[in-house]
Amino acid sequence: MAADAFVSQLNEQIAHEFAAHQQYVACAVHYDGETLPRLAGFFYRQALEERDHAMMMVQYLLDADADVVIPGVAAPQVTFSDIVAPVALALAQERRVSEQINALAATARAENDFTSEQFVQWFIKEQVEEVATMSDLLRVVQRSQDDPMEIENFIAREHASAAGEDPTAPHQAGG
Ligand SMILES: [Fe+2]
Ligand SMILES: [Fe+2]
Repeated sequence: MAADAFVSQLNEQIAHEFAAHQQYVACAVHYDGETLPRLAGFFYRQALEERDHAMMMVQYLLDADADVVIPGVAAPQVTFSDIVAPVALALAQERRVSEQINALAATARAENDFTSEQFVQWFIKEQVEEVATMSDLLRVVQRSQDDPMEIENFIAREHASAAGEDPTAPHQAGG
């Protein structure tokens, strides 16, 4: 039985994950409009990962027989001053999500809700990767902002396709 405090906090996190999805679609569309297809593809894939995170949380609440509310989300930022801005925004977003995930773990532990604490562990590891990926990309984009093809080549080399299946990932609703 998941603790009530954890359930309501996880429902809020579902909204954050869906908002992150919308934000990354907005970043992808911005880059697509600038004819930077590799950067666009990178953000389209990141967007799908955020949706997956939301649906893993939905599945957990279904499994725990807890209330799950599919939320409306805040509108994303859709205009950006330069090629760096969407990546800087993405890194700030990932850092914020890491804090939110840690807060979820803290609530689970404070409530002696060990099942929920274990569920959150996967996301803690995932956030380490997401922050590292965005912080690497920010460095590359800042270094090569006057030569966007360098950035496109970097993504083609380092982020050619979506990450493979992670067998340790929680199940997703509908997945
Ligand atoms: Fe996420
Ligand atoms: Fe993320």
